[in-house]
Amino acid sequence: MTEEEETHRAELLTPLGAEGSGRRRYAAAMALNRSGRLSDAALEVYRICSPRDHDDPAALLAERGLSGDVPPPAPPRFATALSRLLDEADQYLSGFSGPGIAEVRAGLSQWRGGRPLRVPTPPNPVLEQWLPRALASLGETHPALAEAIRQAAPCLTWITYDLYPPEEIGAAFRSGHAFASIVGEEEAPYGAREFDLGLFLIAPDVLYRDHRHPAPELYAPLTGPHGWRFGAGEPLAVLPAHVPVWNEPMRPHMTKVGPEPFLCLYCWTRDVNAPAEVVPAKDWPALEELRLDDGTQDMAG
Ligand SMILES: [Fe+2]
Repeated sequence: MTEEEETHRAELLTPLGAEGSGRRRYAAAMALNRSGRLSDAALEVYRICSPRDHDDPAALLAERGLSGDVPPPAPPRFATALSRLLDEADQYLSGFSGPGIAEVRAGLSQWRGGRPLRVPTPPNPVLEQWLPRALASLGETHPALAEAIRQAAPCLTWITYDLYPPEEIGAAFRSGHAFASIVGEEEAPYGAREFDLGLFLIAPDVLYRDHRHPAPELYAPLTGPHGWRFGAGEPLAVLPAHVPVWNEPMRPHMTKVGPEPFLCLYCWTRDVNAPAEVVPAKDWPALEELRLDDGTQDMAG
């Protein structure tokens, strides 16, 4: 639906009694009639009511059996954008068959039935600084998913989580990440229980230190390459974009972001309220200095 049609549909419902409202409703009806969205008979009703701002066309439409000829108001734009993002995310995940994918898709299908709620959308500097670059990179191979994220991102609550002590999680990560829940318990437009699916963004070169949590977790990275390890002191493995990572409960994991911002779909499939803990490692200073580019594989480990 075009933005113009959305506006016309909304204008059909211009409040009764407002000065000139009869003419506004009629003008909107004419536009919708021209594009084939409203019948000639219904248009005639809006014409009859147009000089009298207090006359409700709905009453005359009902009397003439024409209520069904009038298009309903469009769903709000944010709802369309969020629904489309979930369609694209599910379509993306359907291309994989590894561990966790089926659980995530089952949860998504269970919880996305209702209409999404409007959630607070405070500005987030990490999002503003890094999302466009991440989407430019994703758009080269997955243009529909990139566009769906671009449209829906402003409708989500992006959080830069600052409750970890900075000396534990690292100053760069603390101020260099943002996540937004899409389906979940808090701040998510689609409510769920024991399930949390969203988007996660980290600035280039940042180290997300070793940590673990009781929730099983899927990362589906949409950009890359990034370094990973699954145990403090283990060697770093560099993975390209579009290689999902499934973390069993309490498996330590660490992410070293490469030259592109890290953007992923994440999902916790249960135990979403059990907190994460940092797993100490001695080599964080070196990993924070590390830059993943040509030759990184040789340096890893
Ligand atoms: Fe995690």
